[in-house]
Order: sequence, then structure tokens, then C-alpha cells
Amino acid sequence: MSTFQAPKGTYDLLPPDSATYLAVREAISGPLKNSGYGYIETPGFENVELFARGVGESTDIVTKEMYAFETKGGDRLALRPEGTASVLRAALEANLHKGGNLPVKLWYSGSYYRYERPQKGRYRHFSQVGAEAIGTEDPALDAELIILADQAYRSLGLRNFRILLNSLGDKECRPVYRAALQDFLRGLDLDDDTRRRVDINPLRVLDDKREYVQKQLAGAPMLRDYLCEACKAYHEQVRELLTAAQVAFEDDEKLVRGLDYYTRTTFEFVHDGLGSQSAVGGGGRYDGLSEMIGGPALPSVGWALGVDRTVLALEAEGIALDIPAATSVYAVPLGDEARRVLFGAVTALRRAGVATDFAYGGKGLKNAMKSANRSGARLALVAGERDLAEGVVQLKDLTSGEQTPVALDAVVDEVRRALA
Ligand code: HAM
Repeated sequence: MSTFQAPKGTYDLLPPDSATYLAVREAISGPLKNSGYGYIETPGFENVELFARGVGESTDIVTKEMYAFETKGGDRLALRPEGTASVLRAALEANLHKGGNLPVKLWYSGSYYRYERPQKGRYRHFSQVGAEAIGTEDPALDAELIILADQAYRSLGLRNFRILLNSLGDKECRPVYRAALQDFLRGLDLDDDTRRRVDINPLRVLDDKREYVQKQLAGAPMLRDYLCEACKAYHEQVRELLTAAQVAFEDDEKLVRGLDYYTRTTFEFVHDGLGSQSAVGGGGRYDGLSEMIGGPALPSVGWALGVDRTVLALEAEGIALDIPAATSVYAVPLGDEARRVLFGAVTALRRAGVATDFAYGGKGLKNAMKSANRSGARLALVAGERDLAEGVVQLKDLTSGEQTPVALDAVVDEVRRALA
């Protein structure tokens, strides 16, 4: 133990569990790489205004949860609370949208920061893998993203998740609905905070989990009844494409999401084994975001899946991923000359692509064999002075215990054969 601990709301990823996180990132990014999405990496911090304008001045993320700070040079920056605004900023800055090759399809993986009240599944530093398809309005693109997320979760073996789907309308129909909803909400008995929310972001009130609020919401106008014909038709196509792909979803009219940039399609992936922090991923269409941050009109859609919560979902379903042992061969030298010779063999094995480790620090045989077993290796290479005098090393199968001498200059071939 040192004097220091990981900051509140954060945790360290340590082996062997960290291998599961890597595998989850792989599983989520695999379908994206296979579907025309290119990898993008953006800085961990941005101009604070990007998020204020992009994510929305009235959202919890911007008003309460941002790690914002002023640099010595006087710049106002914030650790990124999410990826979409940054990715769009980067795409616009590099003119990826010019040249006629739309949509620009990008995927990313990284750390995000929100000053939230920590609890299981809710951290101040967390990890997402995300995807954004920028510059095209096409229901097949919305469907593609939902299908790819479904494929990713299924490839991990997850089954107890559900897809919630909604349409939030567009700049034509949503303002009409918003006004009608405000009229309704202003007639209710609500606390001051919620009243303020009615003024700034009335749709979020629908999402209020408190019972006294939910009770009064019966009879609230529903967005579905206000969607314009274009939004209705668009949403119907997304639904049909998902159905054709045999991806089950639930229509959820109350799904509003916590970020302001959404238009039309919105969706969330919820896992039933996670308690209150049940959203393992979410996303939707954000047709107006580019203009909100000073760009041209670029209708876009995307999602981000939470890596931390996906790992919790695996635990909840009792799924242990089949992760191959990091080490296949463990070398155990007995004596100085053997150290020199076996270290050479280890280097040759690694260059040949065999995952190999070495008993460092002059451990005795017993200790070294313990380390070999702990490493998960299938084979040990053991050599002492007598072996070297005969020009061999002992190749030991750690499962059966069987040991065979192999010629020093044939180690790579013999190990490969034994592992095959
Ligand atoms: P979000 O719903 O805020 O959306 O986050 C996506 C996922 O990140 C959540 O479903 C959850 O799994 C995970 N997550 C969020 N906050 C935390 C936290 N404090 N601790 C652990 N996990 C967390 C976005 O971030 C949007 N940028 C998604 C998107 C992409 N929309 C369009 N494109």
C-alpha cells in the first residue's frame, strides 16, 4: 500500500481481470471494423464550449458533471464526458465530410470522465467504445448501428439485454410537442427544480424516476402523436429494417436520453441484471449537432457502449470469456550458464511468435515451477548444467508432467509441434 489511492469513483484494471476488458473492446469494435468504420482517436480534453454547445447547456453532464478547468495559458478546457461532440469536431476540422464520400464512418475507444455520484456501474472515469456515421440521413444507417451493437453483445454471449427504441422527432415537429408538454407539465404539482427543468428541458421530466412525478405524468401528451409525417415514415423504416434483421426491440416512448443533441431515432441497450445503472449502451441520430458547433448541416447517427457495464453484464450472466493464457511457454534456468542459453531460446521463441516468459531473478526450481504454473503456460523449458553439456533442454508438459529432452537448436520447432 502506498500513501495514495485511486481517486473516488475510479478503479484500476489489473490482470487477470483486465484481459476481459480488452476482450470486450475487441468484441465491440470487431463488427464495426468489419462494416466500414475507420478508427479515430481524439484528445482526452477539449474546449469546454464544445461540450456546452454540443451536449447541451441544460444537461446534467454539462451543468454538474464536467471536469472543467482553466489552463495556465488561460484556455477553458474540459475532460471529455462523451465522444460524439469530439469526433464530429475532429471530422469537421479535417474536412472528412468533403469530397463526397459520405457517410464518414468512425469508431473509437477510450476513457471518459463525469463527476457523478459513484455507485456500482457508475464511475467518474469509465470506458466506452463508440461509433459515429456522419453526414447521411438513411434509416438503414440507424439500423446498421443497432444491428452491429446487438451482434457485439451476442458475440460476447450476452442474452439478457433489451433494445429500447424511440423517435424524438425533428426540428419541425419537436418544438410543437415541447410546447404542448410544457403546457401540461406547468399544470402539475412539482418541486422548484423540476419546474425549472420544465422550462429548460421538459422532455427530461418524462424520464424522472420518482413516483410522485411518474404518477402525475399519466395523460401527458406523447411525442408519438406529434411526429411529423417525415419522422413517422423514417422511424417506421428503421423498425422494419430491424425486424427484417431479426433484432428484437421494444418501443419506448419515454426514452429521452441525457444529451440534448438527439433528433429522430434514439435507442438504449439495457441489461436486466444490473440494477439501477442498467444502460450498457445508448445512442441515436443527431442531425443538428454539426450546425450547433459551427459546421454545415450533417445528419448523423451513432452510439457508445459502456465497457465497464458490459463487463458487469457478463458477470451478471455468469459468462466467463474464453481468454487464452497470455503465456504458452515458461523457461526455467538452473544456473548461470543455463540462464544465458535459455534467455537466448526465449528470445528466439518470441521472435517466432510464441508467447514465452522467463523465470527472472535467479529463482530456485520449486519457486520457478510455481511461477510457470501460475502463468498458465502449457509448456516449461527447463535446463541445468548437465542438460547443456548434452546440448539439450527439457521440454515439460505442465498438464501431464511428461518431460522430454529436445536438442537446443531444435527448440523452436519442437515447442511449436508440442503446442500445435
Ligand atoms: P451515454 O448514454 O451518455 O451516451 O453513454 C453511453 C454509455 O456509456 C452508457 O450507456 C453507459 O454504459 C456508459 N456510461 C455513461 N456514463 C457512465 C458512468 N458514469 N460510469 C460507467 N459507464 C457510463 C453517450 O455518451 C453518447 N455520446 C452516445 C452516442 C454516440 N450518441 C450518438 N453517438
